[in-house]
Amino acid sequence: MRASALTFFNNKGGVGKTSMIYHLAWMFASLERRVVIFDLDPQSNLTAAFLNEDEIEAVWNPQDEASTIYNCVNPLADVGDIAEPVLKKITPHLFLLPGDIRLSDYESILSEAWPNSLGDSNLYRPMRILSSFWQVMQMAADEVQAEIILVDIGPNLGAINRSILIATDYVVIPMGADLFSLQGLKNLGPTLRKWKKQWQKRLENWSESDTASSWENFHLPRGEMQPIGYLCQQHGVRLDRPVKAYDKWVKRIPEVYRRSVLDEDSNVNGRLEENHCLATVKHYRSLIPMAQEHRKPIFNLTSADGAIGSHANAVQDAREDFRQLAIKIASKMGIEIGTDLVS
Ligand SMILES: Nc1ncnc2c1ncn2[C@@H]1O[C@H](COP(=O)(O)OP(=O)(O)OP(=O)(O)O)[C@@H](O)[C@H]1O
Ligand SMILES: [Mg+2]
Repeated sequence: MRASALTFFNNKGGVGKTSMIYHLAWMFASLERRVVIFDLDPQSNLTAAFLNEDEIEAVWNPQDEASTIYNCVNPLADVGDIAEPVLKKITPHLFLLPGDIRLSDYESILSEAWPNSLGDSNLYRPMRILSSFWQVMQMAADEVQAEIILVDIGPNLGAINRSILIATDYVVIPMGADLFSLQGLKNLGPTLRKWKKQWQKRLENWSESDTASSWENFHLPRGEMQPIGYLCQQHGVRLDRPVKAYDKWVKRIPEVYRRSVLDEDSNVNGRLEENHCLATVKHYRSLIPMAQEHRKPIFNLTSADGAIGSHANAVQDAREDFRQLAIKIASKMGIEIGTDLVS
C-alpha cells in the first residue's frame, strides 16, 4: 500500500503549522499508525522540536549518510542521483527525516528544472528533480512501512513548496482568525489549482515523449494536493482584542475557503451546510513552553513535568481534542482508525 502524504500549508506564517504537525504525529503514533514526518521547512523548527542540538548537529554533519532532506536531494544539483534517506526513529511508529537550512539552495535547481520539464527531449532529469521530494517520500515510507507522511513547509509560494505540493495527496490549511490569514487564503486556493494544472501538463508532456518509453520504471506523483479542510487557531488572537473581532473573522473564513480553495460558488444550494473547519485549535498558553521543555506533546505531560491542577485537566482535554482531530483527518484521507489509545 502506498503511503498518503499530507501537507500543512498556508503562506501566512506563524499560524501553528509546525506545532500542529508535531502533535498530530505523536497522536497518529499513539493510535498505532506508522508515520514519517518530513521537515521541509529550511528553518527546521519541527526538527528542533524532536531533536536536541547535539542530535541536530550530528545529522547536519553526517559521515556520508543522507540524514537530512537536503542530503537526499542535493546530489541532483550536480550529476548525481537521489540518495536513500536515513530516518531518525523517534518511537517504533514515528520516524523523522530532519530538515536542513541548506535546503534553500535547492530552490534555484527546482526553478531551472520547471521550464525544462516542458521541452520535447531530455525530460528525465528535470522530471526527476521536480519529483525528487516525492521520490524520497516513497523511499522513506517503504523503508518503514509508513501509512502516513506528514509534511511541514515554510510560509511561501516558492519553487520548493511547489514541488512539495506536487508530492502531496492532501492539504490542510491552518488559519488564524485575522485579516492576514484571510488574505493568504485568497491567493492560496488559486495557487494550488494553478500548480496542479501545470503539473498535469508536465505529466501529459512526459507520457507523450520518447523519453518516457525508455524509463518504464520511473514513477511520478499525480499531484492531487486535495484540500481536506482548515484549522482555526485561537492562539494568534491578541489578548487586548475584543472577542467580537475574532468572531468577525471566523465567520468570514467558510465563504473565502469555499470560493478560493474549493472554487465553489458560495450561492450554490446545499454547499453552505458543509463544514470544512476541521477544528478550532485552543490557546494552550503555558502548556506550550512546558511541553517544549520536556520535548513531548502537551497531551503527554504528567504531574512530574509540572502539569498539575487545572493544567492536568487541560492535558486530558488536549488529548481528547487531538485524538478526535487525528481520527477525522485520517478518515478524510481514507484511513480508518480504531479508537483505542495506546499509552
Ligand atoms: N495552540 C497553541 N496555543 C498556544 N501557542 C501556540 C499554539 N500553536 C502554536 N503556538 C505558538 O505559536 C507560535 C507559532 O507556531 P508555529 O511555529 O507552530 O507556527 P508555523 O505556522 O509553523 O510558523 P512558520 O510559518 O514560522 O513556520 C509558536 O511560538 C508556537 O509555540
Ligand atoms: Mg513552522
